[in-house]
Amino acid sequence: MAKGFYISKSLGILCILLGVAAVCTIIALSTVYSQEKNRNAKSESAAVATTSPATTTATTLDQSKPWNQYRLPKTLIPDSYQVTLRPYLTPNDNGLYIFKGTSTVRFTCKEATDVIIIHSKSLNYTIQQEHRVVLRGVGGSQPPDIDRTELVEATEYLVVHLRGSLVENSQYEMDSEFEGELADDLAGFYRSEYTEDGVKKVLATTQMQAADARKSFPCFDEPAMKAEFNITIIHPKDLTALSNMLPKGPSTPLAEDPDWNITEFHTTPKMSTYLLAYIVSEFDHVESQAPNGVMIRIWARPNAIAEGHGEYALNITGPILSFFADHYDTPYPLEKSDQIGLPDFNAGAMENWGLVTYRENSLLYDPNSSSIGNKERVVTVVAHELAHQWFGNLVTVDWWNDLWLNEGFASYVEYLGADYAEPTWNLKDLIVLNDVYSVMAMDALASSHPLSTPAEEINTPAEISELFDSITYSKGASVLRMLSSFLTENLFKKGLASYLHTFAYQNTVYLDLWEHLQEAVESQTEVQLPDTVQNIMDRWILQMGFPVITINTATGDISQEHFLLDPDANVTRPSEFNYLWIVHISSIRNGVQQKDYWLEGVEKTQDLLFRTEANEWVLLNLNVTGYYHVNYDEDNWRKIQTQLQTDPLVIPVINRAQVIYDAFNLASAQKVPVTLALNNTLFLIQETEYMPWQAALSSLSYFELMFDRSEVYGPMKNYLKKQVTPLYNYFKSLTNDWELRPDTLMDQYNEVNAISTACSNGLHECETMVSELFKQWMANPNDNPIHPNLRSTVYCNAISLGGEEEWDFAWDQFQKATLVNEADKLRVALACSREVWILNRYLSYTLNSDLIRKQDATSTINSIADNVIGQSLVWDFVQSNWKKLFEDYGGGSFSFSSLIQRVTQRFSTEYELQQLEQFKENNMETGFGSGTRALEQALEKTKANIKWVKENKESVLRWFTENSQ
Ligand SMILES: *[C@@H]1O[C@H](CO)[C@@H](O)[C@H](O)[C@H]1NC(C)=O
Ligand SMILES: *[C@@H]1O[C@H](CO)[C@@H](O)[C@H](O)[C@H]1NC(C)=O
Ligand SMILES: *[C@@H]1O[C@H](CO)[C@@H](O)[C@H](O)[C@H]1NC(C)=O
Ligand SMILES: *[C@@H]1O[C@H](CO)[C@@H](O)[C@H](O)[C@H]1NC(C)=O
Ligand SMILES: [Zn+2]
Repeated sequence: MAKGFYISKSLGILCILLGVAAVCTIIALSTVYSQEKNRNAKSESAAVATTSPATTTATTLDQSKPWNQYRLPKTLIPDSYQVTLRPYLTPNDNGLYIFKGTSTVRFTCKEATDVIIIHSKSLNYTIQQEHRVVLRGVGGSQPPDIDRTELVEATEYLVVHLRGSLVENSQYEMDSEFEGELADDLAGFYRSEYTEDGVKKVLATTQMQAADARKSFPCFDEPAMKAEFNITIIHPKDLTALSNMLPKGPSTPLAEDPDWNITEFHTTPKMSTYLLAYIVSEFDHVESQAPNGVMIRIWARPNAIAEGHGEYALNITGPILSFFADHYDTPYPLEKSDQIGLPDFNAGAMENWGLVTYRENSLLYDPNSSSIGNKERVVTVVAHELAHQWFGNLVTVDWWNDLWLNEGFASYVEYLGADYAEPTWNLKDLIVLNDVYSVMAMDALASSHPLSTPAEEINTPAEISELFDSITYSKGASVLRMLSSFLTENLFKKGLASYLHTFAYQNTVYLDLWEHLQEAVESQTEVQLPDTVQNIMDRWILQMGFPVITINTATGDISQEHFLLDPDANVTRPSEFNYLWIVHISSIRNGVQQKDYWLEGVEKTQDLLFRTEANEWVLLNLNVTGYYHVNYDEDNWRKIQTQLQTDPLVIPVINRAQVIYDAFNLASAQKVPVTLALNNTLFLIQETEYMPWQAALSSLSYFELMFDRSEVYGPMKNYLKKQVTPLYNYFKSLTNDWELRPDTLMDQYNEVNAISTACSNGLHECETMVSELFKQWMANPNDNPIHPNLRSTVYCNAISLGGEEEWDFAWDQFQKATLVNEADKLRVALACSREVWILNRYLSYTLNSDLIRKQDATSTINSIADNVIGQSLVWDFVQSNWKKLFEDYGGGSFSFSSLIQRVTQRFSTEYELQQLEQFKENNMETGFGSGTRALEQALEKTKANIKWVKENKESVLRWFTENSQ
């Protein structure tokens, strides 16, 4: 999926969009900010609406029985399915929306067995016979009689007990007939409701990943159980049915009921169940053809298509498909590529083969009301999902423990594909902000975890769901980018193509990719590695965390150490590599690039590359292609600072951002004084580039979280106001008093940063500007004068500066908004109020799905928690409503960990720690589901915050006071 989960990324994006320093920067990169690539938007979230009771029940069952185990036995392998489904888009007499289905599965017996175990969840079997299923032999084999069938709820199986044995290497077919609920639970085959032109509409759609295909029809629901699927959909005659493949021909009327049509789809290639999709809707589309003849269609609500909102996605899909076909040296594997924007969708997007589903805001773009950030999101999410059409769909990991390879890879190459479609945006640089640094903040905790998990530790749907975190997405992306960088992209592509050619339509483990990359390395002599790809990469994926590289320029000493944000944290997880890495190190000396260096898994050594003369400095990790922090002796730090303040352009822009990020992280870990990190922001007074500013704003967002309830906040605001004023004026004149937009993506982002930082730190001129703009809009609601780029920050600051009238106006506009992009901006901005009663009322709206869509509830609550005034309200709310929240939103949903993370992000006192511990104790019985790890991280983080504030408050206060004049 996309990082819908992409909460994490989404957050980053939100922040960018919002650009509300007070809110945004906090979100953007608080040191511990968990990117739940909730990228709300981006991730394909594994929308696993699991109920965790299953887990507990099953463990009490007799584990020697294969149907009590979560993993399928290897006795039976599916070959082909015929599945016919009929969704009813009006409720039945009991008020229930249902679907009916029939299915036939043909399978081969690999080992004699007297039991058929197949996944089935929440399905009622309706066959009018003694048993739930009918079993047949294929090619003359005689099947044994069925003894009995049972449904094992805990492990989600239909179990068919036989009187005799199935015969090795024989084929059988099993028929079933069933009904299921077409619920609005965003999982399996589900319904989505929306209103268009005042009319309520219902559509049926799917989200199978990770383990919900079994909720739609009985199937061997594991990624390695690839098979061919014949999908047939019976649907109301005026609606369109879509699936992974094209229909075999026109829809035909259903003989027994002329109100219905039948659409039969072509047989799929061999594929995994989690990539299936079928949708019945009244949606329209726009269409084009890729150079190689692949049909490209973008589907959405008829109004959205009529207004041209599918055009941008259509424009970029062809180039992105061509890019990946070339990058993988493999043609697009199917004859068509459909992409559809859905009003209700849990993840950001889901890479179903040939029929990718998106949240509307990740696919649709309206030039009149979408911001540049919305556009960037569309191009990166589309690139992410299309990257999976080969890597993930054509070649699939064997089991979910290797999810990091699938998601990390897509999260890396999405930047390459998007860059190809928008070559002037420098999108490839943004991975450093959105993924590398944001996930390092998570990975620097002692409670982090390695990328790779042994297969046997991942069994239940809840365990699978928990894997969809920022480590999987962003660290996966970061280390693969590092690998590609030291191999060189050409060599990486060569190994990758060989891997894809070898394993098409099959399954792999991550070692298979290493093996093919190793072959590529051995096929040439230019790139020499100090060890095998596997030995180098093992250290990055089998042990958690990453090193800080320390340089002493007086001696040329270079050393490495496991970087921990909390230096006293107790690392209980052992590592066979003793937390030492094999690190590829690039460097520059006074602006000139030096030759590459390998630190080969040792703690400490020495090299002339890192020794300097009096007038020289060195800087490591050019463009931050390496996944590590760098620390220097004080002298070298001072020389870098001087360089930045005299001629910053000698240092590449990504490294200007790096200097800030690394120093703040080192300060958090007490490896440098906090004032050294703060000194690294002094050059910003003359910096106009986005990346260094964003690095500072996100690093300082941690300070804001720690101090926005204390006396440090005043001087801190004064300092930021002073630093940002030239930037504000720069953009003011560049844009002719905010009338035009700057040319480049990064400049447009930085313009937003300038406004949001200026306004939230009390630059009077800015406050007047946003309030005036908002008033103009209120005076004439049908003519919004605010440019889409600036809307998030203008709305938020105007609502924050305003009162009930502004809020009510925005709420009104939110309810009227037909565009999800616009609605999202308003929904987040509504959380910016400074009135307790208004925030409390808003919080109560989040539990009413008529007011706030269920898919948006947790992210809205999170926005309120980002607000310093809203945070305590949300904490009270979470404490008193945990059980209800947990029941409503499911222990398996991704958004849970973000809720815990966001509501606790300011925690920095003993009292708050006690409350958190109490919260854990009080709710042990209910449990925390996919938020379990987030809770442990919150406890650790709170302890670290307490210590940090105690140790740094004085000097931070002094520094801001001295430097704000
Ligand atoms: C699916 O369709 C293909 C092609 O028509 C056919 O060979 C196969 O037997 C079908 N599968 C099932 C289970 O009917
Ligand atoms: C399945 O059966 C259960 C128990 O009889 C019933 O509550 C549920 O509504 C049925 N589901 C459907 C979709 O008919
Ligand atoms: C339903 O079937 C009729 C008759 O073949 C056809 O004219 C019509 O286009 C079909 N409807 C859809 C939505 O395909
Ligand atoms: C799509 O491409 C066409 C043709 O190049 C261009 O005119 C149009 O502005 C593009 N649309 C968007 C939304 O970028
Ligand atoms: Zn993905």
